[in-house]
Amino acid sequence: MTEGLNRRKFLHTAGVGAGACLVLGTSAFAAGARSMNPGGFDPGTTPLKTIAARKGLLYGTESTYGELQDAAYADLVSSQCGLLVPGLALKWDALRPTPETYDFSKGDWMLNFTRQRDMKYRGHALVWFAALPKWFNGYATPQNAKQLLLAHINTVVLHYAGKMQSWDVINEALEPNDKRPDGLRNSPWLQLLGPDYIEMAFRAASEADPHAILVWNENFIEEDTAAGIAKRAFFVQHLKRLLGKGVPIHAIGIQSHLIGGNPNIAGPQFQQFIDQVSDMGLKILITELDVKDFKLPNDITARDTAIAGIYTQYLNTVLARKAVVAVLSWGMSDKYTWIEKAYPRPDGAPVRPLAFDANMNPSRTWYALAKAFDSAPSR
Ligand code: XIL
Repeated sequence: MTEGLNRRKFLHTAGVGAGACLVLGTSAFAAGARSMNPGGFDPGTTPLKTIAARKGLLYGTESTYGELQDAAYADLVSSQCGLLVPGLALKWDALRPTPETYDFSKGDWMLNFTRQRDMKYRGHALVWFAALPKWFNGYATPQNAKQLLLAHINTVVLHYAGKMQSWDVINEALEPNDKRPDGLRNSPWLQLLGPDYIEMAFRAASEADPHAILVWNENFIEEDTAAGIAKRAFFVQHLKRLLGKGVPIHAIGIQSHLIGGNPNIAGPQFQQFIDQVSDMGLKILITELDVKDFKLPNDITARDTAIAGIYTQYLNTVLARKAVVAVLSWGMSDKYTWIEKAYPRPDGAPVRPLAFDANMNPSRTWYALAKAFDSAPSR
């Protein structure tokens, strides 16, 4: 396992330097910058990827093909980030127009984008209960499901073999609320194939690309609540069992769609979980970081201060652990965030979950990220 990771040379501080000189609207944030920026960081000359890379950390973001047609946003993404993960293009419903065909056009366009801009590329997600194509339900049966899953993984992973930093092989497979004794989600894959689909998927991905970091990515595990504690306990149980059988899992992904205003984020039991996972020899990626602000005040200064405070507390906690090797935001600007639709504010005000606001000016969150990376121990 550990040897596998070394072979994969997990981190070589991607993208440092390249494209680091984005000219940002400095006047827009200069006034507020002094109070929110005691460290004197400058988003225009020292991007987040550079501050992170000094500590051996990889910083990156999710984005979509559509968003990257916005030239200013594309420049923002590549100037700040060492890695790109497509938010949509590599999900089943995007890749599989029919049971017989694959559409790699957007995924390939994004791969090309990363190559031109000296970024790493990451795949999301090979096996998920959601984002299945419309044809899936009427097509998949217990008889053909294994072949359907393995052919998909083999074709897609081979297509990008040698070019992917990592793959989310399994996404959101746990759901203790479904009340199974193993804590697994009662997903279509589970119903079709039973619990072995997880092992099958990792083995197939490893065969198709021996170099990519293979990740099991989970949501809602960041809080010390009954739900978070239960999901993490099942997670540890599955990881131990599968690693014991030699299943090629190299890292876990902690999505980290944090809920602003919740009291139990990254508490002591969560910290123990990180230590347990790292003691198993696994690396940890923070894969989808943002902060939902639907419980926070309307006032922008108060809200941004609260959001930045959550980033600071969360990142200081996770980055204290050296198994945490990458921090990936789920988007770079509030102009393009899934939170707007998925978790709107009750007062209808635009949400502010990300490092750059809707005008693409750095918010307090940018400075919180910069400070947390700068304060992190080297790894
Ligand atoms: C989200 C995308 O960002 C949205 O555009 C889409 O409508 C729904 O999916 N966890 C995941 C991601 O693993 O795939 C989700 O992405 C966000 C939650």
